[in-house]
Amino acid sequence: MADIDGPNAPKQFYSDVPQPSEKFFLKGSNSLDWGMQNRLSRIFNPVSGKTVMLAIDHGYFLGPTAGLERIDVNILPLIPYADTLMITRGALRTMVPPDTQKSIVLRVPGGASILRELSNEDLAVDIEDAIRLNVCAMAVQVYVGSEHEHQTILSMTRMVDMGLRYGIPTLAVTAVGKDMVRDAKYFRLATRICAELGAQYVKTYYIPEGFETVTASCPVPIVIAGGKKLPELDALKMASNAINEGAAGVDMGRNVFQSDAPIAMLQALRAIVHDDETPEKAFDLYTELKNK
Ligand code: 5RP
Repeated sequence: MADIDGPNAPKQFYSDVPQPSEKFFLKGSNSLDWGMQNRLSRIFNPVSGKTVMLAIDHGYFLGPTAGLERIDVNILPLIPYADTLMITRGALRTMVPPDTQKSIVLRVPGGASILRELSNEDLAVDIEDAIRLNVCAMAVQVYVGSEHEHQTILSMTRMVDMGLRYGIPTLAVTAVGKDMVRDAKYFRLATRICAELGAQYVKTYYIPEGFETVTASCPVPIVIAGGKKLPELDALKMASNAINEGAAGVDMGRNVFQSDAPIAMLQALRAIVHDDETPEKAFDLYTELKNK
């Protein structure tokens, strides 16, 4: 109890130095709790404010899709080049070394397969397991306008409530049913519903017309999916357009792991997302790295 017994080193309270009270760097995230902000800071780079997520969760309804036949062989070498890995708990536990320093976004719904109606899914992971796995966010698919719209929206809100209890953000993934029109009006509706119902960030598709109205009207960050495999330059152009029109990053799967040079593709994407590189220069980087 030296402090009580007598004077030690002089104390310095810096009473003339105001304690900083800075805003959190992510859109719409100021009022989130410390744990959520900390987890989001492990997904989004606090310097650029953006993220390059690698999505490898397709197997939960598609099985071993091309490029994901062997996550241990095909995907583990890519992990150092992504900011975050979006993955199911089965793939995480069986194939990703637990000493990874990468943040994990855990895919939590399940219950559907490519053979039947895809929107017929529900939460398939307990929040306790997400906590055990030390994940930085939980991803839930929302099928606005599809047969099971109601149940998937409410699955998302249940996840948001559980996430708020433990400080784990929810990423709402706007899934487009087979017959839905992919336009700005649809994505404004779907992303806004997800954000208003509490998702801390939203994943959607890029559309060439009016994407900036989707990002502007959504009060939380938006990341884009890659969708079907495109030629590399086209995928880089899509990423660049999305970033220039307000996206906070990409969450790409097939356009990375089905590329001829997935590591080079991830590095080219990083140049666009974090360094504002043009798609043409990023493609040059891709070609150079691919040919090394
Ligand atoms: C599927 C998903 C996938 O993670 C998403 O589609 C990203 O992968 P890709 O870039 O291959 O579209 O959310 O529901």
